[in-house]
Order: sequence, then C-alpha cells, then structure tokens
Amino acid sequence: MSEYSALQIEVVDDYLALSQAAASQIVAKLTETPNMSLLVPTGTTPEATYAILSEQPADLFEEVTFFNMDEYCEPDGDHSFKMIEPSHPQSYKNYMDRHILRAQPAIVSRFPDLKDTERPGSYDELIEAHGGIDLCVTAIGEDGHTFGFNFPGTPVDSVTRLVEVNESTQAVNQKLTGAPVPEHAITTGLATGMAAKEVLVLVSGARKAAILKRVLHGEVSPEVPATILHDHPNCKWLIDQAAASQL
Ligand code: GLP
Repeated sequence: MSEYSALQIEVVDDYLALSQAAASQIVAKLTETPNMSLLVPTGTTPEATYAILSEQPADLFEEVTFFNMDEYCEPDGDHSFKMIEPSHPQSYKNYMDRHILRAQPAIVSRFPDLKDTERPGSYDELIEAHGGIDLCVTAIGEDGHTFGFNFPGTPVDSVTRLVEVNESTQAVNQKLTGAPVPEHAITTGLATGMAAKEVLVLVSGARKAAILKRVLHGEVSPEVPATILHDHPNCKWLIDQAAASQL
C-alpha cells in the first residue's frame, strides 16, 4: 500500500474492531481534554462506537459538547422549511438519544437548524465561538459524501446550509432504516469538517469498498467529496477488512 504512505491508515479485522479502536481513540482524547468539542455523524457506521461510549464512566462526558453534522427538514408552505420532529423515524436527534445521549445525559448536544437556511454558516459561527472542533468523527457515503450530506459537486468552501438529499442517499438510508427519507436536510459543509483540528474517518463493510478505493486513489475532486480529506493535516483512517478489500 505504498501509494498511501502519506495517509494515516489503520486496517482492522472487522466492524467490532473498528468500533473498539474508534471508541478508545475518543476516550483517550476525552481523558486528555474533557471539555473538547466533537463533530459527530449518524448512520449505521458509528452505531457500535456509540454503544461502547455509552458504557464508559459518566464523568468522562461531563464537559464535552457534541455538534451533530446534520438533521432533516421539510417544506413548510411554499417558501419555508421546518425541522422534522424528534419523533420522526428518521430524526437524527432521536438517533443520538437512542444511541448515546440517554446513556450519557451529561453530553451537551447541538444540531444545525433553520438559522442556516436563512444565513448559511450560522452553525459554523456557533462552533467557532465554542473554540472550534477538536475532533471530527466522520464516515463516507457510497457516493463519496462526507461531513454530513455533502454530495458530489459540493464546493470545498461550503458551510452549514440547506441541501436536497440526493436520490441515491435517500434510497440507501431508506433501505437501512426501513422508513421514508425526507428530501431536505441542514448539513455542515466541507469547510466545516476541514476546520476540525483532527479528523477520524470510519469506513466499514463491503458496500464501501468501491468508493473507498476511489477516495484513497483519487485526486482531490468535488466529484468525490471525501477526497478533500487528503488535504487535511491531521486525518486518520480506520478501515475494516471488508471495506479495504479493493485497495
Ligand atoms: C446518515 C448520514 C449519511 C449516511 C447515512 C448512512 O444518514 N447522515 O451521511 O450516508 O447515515 O451511513 P452509513 O453508511 O454509515 O450507514
């Protein structure tokens, strides 16, 4: 894998090993800097990482802030939007509650919201006012999206804003969750994620093998948004064997 020598890549056996490695890196950082800010994803990839963090001592989470990357919204009349309710089956607030916040209620949890439809980047300002992101944990979508819903074509200077969820991601998320997926979301941008001091990318499963090959082999290009991670000065990749199978 000599062409990857500039990248910090760790390939582990399977999803459990990946989740244990991710959780122990997060715990180590939290132990060192209890008042850190994390930018965090949803989806199936981080579920077991959150489950392991849920079992850690509660005092580890007393000063931490979790900034989530995205939340769905829906049209409200002809010209405006409303955030989906936490009771919606696709709600990421609900996802975070179920996967970690109920077990670790001390975590301060923030989400992008409608302010970013009127004034894109409001959430980025909130993050900045909070001292910036110390660690961003992200995954990649099958079309190469990352840092939330930054689909192919997203500009590198994008900040938190309203987006249309592309059809392929709607289909993937519908299949994974069994519920219809809203067509819009507020998501952090590529610039939001790239501003993090450190990035940890989690890539698991055979369904990510083809896109991972394109991301790691490819030139930085808006067609495959996650290629931007090549330009991050402190980005670590945690990959399981199934996702690494085409490298
Ligand atoms: C969430 C994320 C999306 C991701 C999806 C599936 O919806 N916001 O960015 O595409 O989960 O993620 P995973 O591949 O981890 O299941």
